[in-house]
Amino acid sequence: MNQLAEELNAILAGSTAGRLLSDLGKHMYFPKGILTQSAEAGEKAHRFNATIGMAYEDGKPMMLDALREALPTLSPEEAVAYAPTGGVMALRKEWKTAMSRKNPSLAGKSFSLPVVVPGLTAAVSYISDLFIDPGDEVVIPDMHWPNYRLIVEERKCAKGVTFPIFSLGGYNVKGLEAALHGTKGSKAVCLLNFPNNPTGYSLTLKEADAIIALLVALADGGRDVLVIADDAYFGLQYQEGLLRESIFARLADAHERILAVKADGPTKEDYVWGFRTGFITFAGKGLSEAAQDALVKKTLGIIRSSVSSSSGLAQHLLLKALLYPGYENQKTRYRKVLEGRYRAMMDYFSKRELPSCLEPLPFNSGYFMSFLCKGISAEALRVELLEKSSIGTISMQDKYLRVAFSSLEEEHIPEFLDIVVASAEKLAKKA
Ligand SMILES: Cc1ncc(COP(=O)(O)O)c(C=O)c1O
Repeated sequence: MNQLAEELNAILAGSTAGRLLSDLGKHMYFPKGILTQSAEAGEKAHRFNATIGMAYEDGKPMMLDALREALPTLSPEEAVAYAPTGGVMALRKEWKTAMSRKNPSLAGKSFSLPVVVPGLTAAVSYISDLFIDPGDEVVIPDMHWPNYRLIVEERKCAKGVTFPIFSLGGYNVKGLEAALHGTKGSKAVCLLNFPNNPTGYSLTLKEADAIIALLVALADGGRDVLVIADDAYFGLQYQEGLLRESIFARLADAHERILAVKADGPTKEDYVWGFRTGFITFAGKGLSEAAQDALVKKTLGIIRSSVSSSSGLAQHLLLKALLYPGYENQKTRYRKVLEGRYRAMMDYFSKRELPSCLEPLPFNSGYFMSFLCKGISAEALRVELLEKSSIGTISMQDKYLRVAFSSLEEEHIPEFLDIVVASAEKLAKKA
């Protein structure tokens, strides 16, 4: 093993994070080679700097005129230069400050500097690289973003252990507990996502308390617990009494044996889907700053050995957006538009009796809601909607029909739902 990896492992030795590392995670380190020498030269090589693999003219990175015209407010350094492996430092600091503001429970708690990765998919995938070995079990609700399967089961050769997400009209806390208890070994790993894709469900405050309590009890029992919080749809809650902050904030100092890792980013929150920017952040009770930094360095190794660094252009644009005077107001306005679409859906369901073949599952947040299709095939319904009415939806497991109400105009929602209902009734009659 490389000596730098051994040094990081020594810092993490004896900690929950150290025990949770996968084989790949143990081997990871951030090389001191080209990047460190370039950084040193950046500070001291004032005469000639021949370290950087970029092309310079008159002291600036070369930039095509077409790009200068398209990006008139950005300097060449912002627009076309490489970003550091861990991301633009000013953006990382700003995101960390914003995280504290958006998650009141983080007040006074220690957590790492977020590391920039190319989107939340990469965040979940890289966290899995660091902590999940082939054969490990990862607890995930049965209704989840399907890419988790590709990452956990196919890429990491681990096993996804599912539990029914709902019980008695709310989150199935007992199911999560039983699934975690049913996993073997010293590690217990779960991947939680609120607001959830595909259900659009966020925890109530009571459910959140119950989940924290069960995770703490698991840790008290001697397991090392890894909780991955996928906060892709952060902040889009539309009802009272819901957990509006990340469960990561509650877990950041919950127990010495709990490591919380947050995957978040601007993709959905800041309406920049194609930016490919996300963040990974670590926290845990007793996770020293040196240990946080060791985890960050291991993450840099994962990035350096896969994509090397994330888009600098997107990071500089995002930083400008975060610092823009009207940023919060515009986000509030967009959030209200999505909330209006949510209310239009709820309004329809409160006024219309739905056929028994179509049951809307609980939803209170996010971009989506799902119908449970009973006695009819969700895939047949999807095809019917597409072929006969030119309406696009997503079928999952042939049981669920997912609707992204986020992308429907509020005034079109009754008409859209009328057609979904009529099409489901038609299929039910044939069945
Ligand atoms: C729950 C969840 N996590 C992660 C992602 C991926 O986000 P990104 O586009 O930033 O990779 C998505 C995207 O749909 C998602 O729904």
